[in-house]
Amino acid sequence: MAATCDQHLFVIFGATGDLTRRKLIPSLYRIVTENHVADRMAIIAVAPREMTDGEFREVAKTSLHDAGIDGADAADWCDRIFYQSVGRDESFDGLRERIEAVEADLGFPGNRAFYLALPPVAFPGTIDRLGEARLNRSPGWTRLVIEKPFGHDLASAHELNEQVHEHFDEDQIYRIDHYLGKETVQNLLTFRFANPIFETSWNRDRLEAVEITVAEDLGVGSRAGYYESAGVLRDMVQNHLTQLMTLVAMEAPPGFNATSIRNEKVQVLESITRIDPEHVVYGQYTAGEVAGEPVVGYHDEDGVAPDSRTPTFVGVKVAIDSWRWQGVPFYLRTGKRLPRRTSQIAVTFKPAPVCIFHGEHDECPIKPNVVVLTLQPDEGFQLRFEVKTPGSPPNVTTKHFTFDYNAEFETIPLAYQTLLFDVITGDQTLFVRGDEVEESWRLWQPILDLEDHPVHPYAAGTWGPAVTNPELAFWTDEWTMRT
Ligand SMILES: NC(=O)c1ccc[n+]([C@@H]2O[C@H](COP(=O)([O-])OP(=O)(O)OC[C@H]3O[C@@H](n4cnc5c(N)ncnc54)[C@H](OP(=O)(O)O)[C@@H]3O)[C@@H](O)[C@H]2O)c1
Repeated sequence: MAATCDQHLFVIFGATGDLTRRKLIPSLYRIVTENHVADRMAIIAVAPREMTDGEFREVAKTSLHDAGIDGADAADWCDRIFYQSVGRDESFDGLRERIEAVEADLGFPGNRAFYLALPPVAFPGTIDRLGEARLNRSPGWTRLVIEKPFGHDLASAHELNEQVHEHFDEDQIYRIDHYLGKETVQNLLTFRFANPIFETSWNRDRLEAVEITVAEDLGVGSRAGYYESAGVLRDMVQNHLTQLMTLVAMEAPPGFNATSIRNEKVQVLESITRIDPEHVVYGQYTAGEVAGEPVVGYHDEDGVAPDSRTPTFVGVKVAIDSWRWQGVPFYLRTGKRLPRRTSQIAVTFKPAPVCIFHGEHDECPIKPNVVVLTLQPDEGFQLRFEVKTPGSPPNVTTKHFTFDYNAEFETIPLAYQTLLFDVITGDQTLFVRGDEVEESWRLWQPILDLEDHPVHPYAAGTWGPAVTNPELAFWTDEWTMRT
């Protein structure tokens, strides 16, 4: 993090919520201490309930303590946090006065970041009130950070975009997908565009398939209220998996900057003309065992309707109709209550064109080369290649070159730390642009619209429903092999 930031106010809406407590406060503290910019930032925490500055500073100290941060410096830093209670429908005139008073006290020039750590239902009203109180413009810069989910479907995402654009320009808007803040996700671009050895093979001439997997071992937990109306496609695929797919598939941008990179990502989405419903497999977990513990099925989770058809697993084959990717399937899959938590991208190369080695029964023993990029946990990558086993008769076996991020680098910044730093330094590269978010919804909307698409049961602790469609058969064996 070499860049530094201007003096600014960081204004958090929804400051009494879980995200502020667990992620935003600790990340902001790490940013100011690691970059020595504590005197350049002050925070205004905003929420409906009544609280004094002093009371909120105690909340902030507890959140730092819970993140393992204690001591006098942390306590001093909390004195730069101010609290402003604003009712759910109250105008922001009082808030504007408070902002201007704090800026005048600190001698700040009027740079402001507004972070909507709010439930999505509160986004439109808050954005309108920012505009009505003329907080969309300021003497310095003004930036607006919008949490996910951005819309519930294509129509609502479009409507929200139109509404935000009534008050803010696109270069002021930072739509968060926290996956993009993960170091290993950003490393996808370095891996591809700093290593020509891979990039020259990254196309339909050399590759057989790309598999993108985000597996969760947890169930729906306390989020059933949200999850029942969202399902797996909205929760994971439209945002995180689609983002990963664009990073794997995009062309080399002319430069490493927000415009170039986001242009290339949008082009990938535009190249996907249609997802075939036959290539979508939904699943829902039933009772089973995860990590040796018995767990209930989705229907028996608190807040889930007994006859719910909400999918908790999806596997889908996507075709990207571009010159680079024609004929190379992208398999996306994600689910809850799978055997373990892992996110990985596996890129399988085409097999050797002619096999000159022969196994015991005259079969070809050579397996294809695979690059496996693991995003979490055990961040790093593996290159799988074939070697001769010693002795005779000669045989062939698969071995791995591995790179382990944690072993090589002492500290990896948290995703929110990276993203918040980008907000205050004005770098939009890792944020989703307005047209990009709509392209992503456009892609998935026909699948969301499918009524009565089969939802297959799978036992908790297994890797999802068995797939019988031969079009999708590729990933069943490979998937089991890698996990
Ligand atoms: N928590 C996470 O780890 C996480 C991760 C990724 C994304 N997000 C996203 O971040 C946002 C916030 O999540 P959260 O978990 O922090 O939610 P939360 O715990 O429910 O907190 C929401 C905050 O917004 C306030 N609020 C609720 N309704 C409001 C309204 N109509 N007008 C003004 N303020 C209102 C709440 O005030 P009261 O306390 O007075 O109710 C609280 O301060 C959501 O969009 C979520 O999808 C959260």
